[in-house]
Amino acid sequence: MRIKAAVLREFGAPLQIEEVELAEPKAGEVLVRLVACGVCHTDLYTASGADPSGYAPTVLGHEGAGVVERVGEGVMSVVPGDHVVTLFSPQCRQCVHCLDARTNLCLAIREQQNKGYLPDGTTRLGAGGEPIRHFMGTSTFAEYTVMPEIALAAIAPEAPLDRACVFACGLSTGLGAAMNTARVQIGSTCVVFGAGLVGLGAVAGCRLQGAERIVAVDLSPDRLELARGQGATDVLAGGPDTVQQILDLTNGFGADYTFEATGNVGVMRQAVESARMGWGLATVCGVAGKGETLDVVPRFLITGRRVAGSSFGGVKGRDEVPQLIDRWLAGEIDVDPLISHRLRLDEVNRGFELMKAQDGIRSVIMFDS
Ligand code: CU
Ligand code: ZN
Repeated sequence: MRIKAAVLREFGAPLQIEEVELAEPKAGEVLVRLVACGVCHTDLYTASGADPSGYAPTVLGHEGAGVVERVGEGVMSVVPGDHVVTLFSPQCRQCVHCLDARTNLCLAIREQQNKGYLPDGTTRLGAGGEPIRHFMGTSTFAEYTVMPEIALAAIAPEAPLDRACVFACGLSTGLGAAMNTARVQIGSTCVVFGAGLVGLGAVAGCRLQGAERIVAVDLSPDRLELARGQGATDVLAGGPDTVQQILDLTNGFGADYTFEATGNVGVMRQAVESARMGWGLATVCGVAGKGETLDVVPRFLITGRRVAGSSFGGVKGRDEVPQLIDRWLAGEIDVDPLISHRLRLDEVNRGFELMKAQDGIRSVIMFDS
């Protein structure tokens, strides 16, 4: 079928809105009609050419929500009409990682996905006889996409898809960092560095876990206000004195849990240094630039601090994204303030501009034509 999609043709150039060819789903694959898709930093990172593992041409986008249109042979877990959230982090339920509660890093299709192919090593996307690769296994800046069944989370049909899409990446990453990776305990003190979508999700996750004190750190007063809305009890303007300010707020000890959601390695270091001696846990969610390293003075570790990393918040997507969506529908998570702009697909480059200007938390592309 012919569909409209935003294609990355050349790194550093605007995405091109094109008609491309999308083939029917093969065995184990699903055709999804997109309803909404968030514009995430990872899309911009790849489009800019800064990601050395990036490839082109490709259809970007990975924060999608939509409706199952058709299924390929052997697909058992979804049927046409199901509402789904796309998972760049799939869950096959069979590999050694899927069978272990300690990680969400499914191994089933990693290699092909990282190269931009579906699990059989080919693409369903093309234009003029040339293949176009699938970005992060999702390619959701498009009216339709074909994805592996194991990369779709079926969610409650009453969940509005125009907001459910943020659970496909940023929001679940933050929620899961607090709920799965750190497993924040009731009554604890938490600090969240960065109040973008991931950081705001972490604030909400700490609140849902029963944290008593949640300190949000960001440079923007508007974002800090949003952090209060998600449950932050204290807010700080970030800077070189942030660690000292956190020690002052916590009787000189530091926080039980810290979260870094900026991708800045200097801030990661602050997250480690503001974690409490004895048991403080610093969880790193942000993606640092290629080649950057995290400086940690070993004394911080020998005195009982720990550092953890979290990809997609440790969320096993098919099992847990539907649960997070249910908690949203039950009124426990406030998603509306996180969505700042709604765009048409042909305005996707404006979504990048808004992100560069730090204007709002999330822009969402709407496909309702
Ligand atoms: Cu993302
Ligand atoms: Zn797996």
